[in-house]
Amino acid sequence: MAMFGVFHFYSFNPPSVMIGIKPEKYTHELIDLHKEFIINIPTTDQLEKVKICGKLTGKDSEKFKETSFTRQRGKRIKSFLIEECTVNLECKVVHKIEHGGSHTWFIGKIEEVHVDSEYSRSNALMFWLGQFRELGEIVEGRKDDEIFL
Ligand SMILES: Cc1cc2nc3c(=O)[nH]c(=O)nc-3n(C[C@H](O)[C@H](O)[C@H](O)COP(=O)(O)O)c2cc1C
Repeated sequence: MAMFGVFHFYSFNPPSVMIGIKPEKYTHELIDLHKEFIINIPTTDQLEKVKICGKLTGKDSEKFKETSFTRQRGKRIKSFLIEECTVNLECKVVHKIEHGGSHTWFIGKIEEVHVDSEYSRSNALMFWLGQFRELGEIVEGRKDDEIFL
């Protein structure tokens, strides 16, 4: 379990995401080994716990214990998801891109989606260029109930 800001949707059909992980991270080693990962989308009130996930390494610490997050076994994959996060995406790695840059890109096909009834886009915690953020003003676009997630 780590904090990751380098994350994108890759394809809507099949639903897939991509995450950029530095090769030296323990998470990289685990994804290489198990070929799966889970994306947990936290809320703004979970910020302090999220920072712990982004600071400690799972190699010599137990992040679930340090954060008091509850671990729950995935439905379609063996990794654990964070129960308190309002969205969890269970993914199986379908492709790995390495080109000698700072990050390896893992493309994961979404096998299972968990969305809590209290999920709201407005309090989802995001990270962008050194800043933790909430969703800002919509300049133009679809209504909330017309979009996926
Ligand atoms: C806000 C934030 C965003 C981060 N984004 C990434 C990222 O996209 N890719 C990455 O490799 N590390 C990222 N990190 C660093 C890892 O989360 C951090 O090194 C973590 O301790 C790695 O855990 P591990 O050793 O168990 O893999 C981020 C850290 C923070 C605080």
